[in-house]
Amino acid sequence: MDDKLLEIAERIRGCTRCRLHETRRLAVPGEGRAEKGIMIVGEAPGEKEDEEGRPFVGPAGRLLTSILTRYGIDRGRDVFITNVVKCRPPGNREPLEDEIAACTPYLVEQIAAIRPRLIVALGVHSARTLMSFAGRRVAKITDVRGKCFKVRIAGVETTLCVTYHPAAALYNPRLRTTLEEDLRRFLGGSEGGLLK
Ligand code: URA
Repeated sequence: MDDKLLEIAERIRGCTRCRLHETRRLAVPGEGRAEKGIMIVGEAPGEKEDEEGRPFVGPAGRLLTSILTRYGIDRGRDVFITNVVKCRPPGNREPLEDEIAACTPYLVEQIAAIRPRLIVALGVHSARTLMSFAGRRVAKITDVRGKCFKVRIAGVETTLCVTYHPAAALYNPRLRTTLEEDLRRFLGGSEGGLLK
């Protein structure tokens, strides 16, 4: 990870900007070298992520990692994986608006440091937060799922693509198929993704 990302991660690990620092075990800044200029942004750490301090290492993470691997994406090398909210909400509840607002500046700093060509937003909270930079309100994930938008965040012109959160796809085969198809279209696969 470059020095700027490491410095941001250090500040996230010591962050007390919102109530989530009182209940988290470990903050989860994010990881990956982003050599393909891709960022993947989820919602918030779950139990396993909170224990390990790493993003997407629980059941939803295993699904995400297996889809990425199938499409030729190495999660440690090609992408940077993070969340809108860097600390686990108690009992895995959804993050609250003020928690998202307190944490979004870290995501913006990470985007400025990485300058991604492509950001994939997983789930409604990620989509809503990132689409707000394009001046768009997102009420439901289905309004934007499967779509890509040009956005400018922290002076970086990038493409933002939206799909379901893998946790929603874990027990719903229909959502899982859609998630797989979206990620194949965004990232690669045999037909080539947006980056080829
Ligand atoms: N869900 C998320 O949104 N992020 C994680 O890191 C794990 C589960």
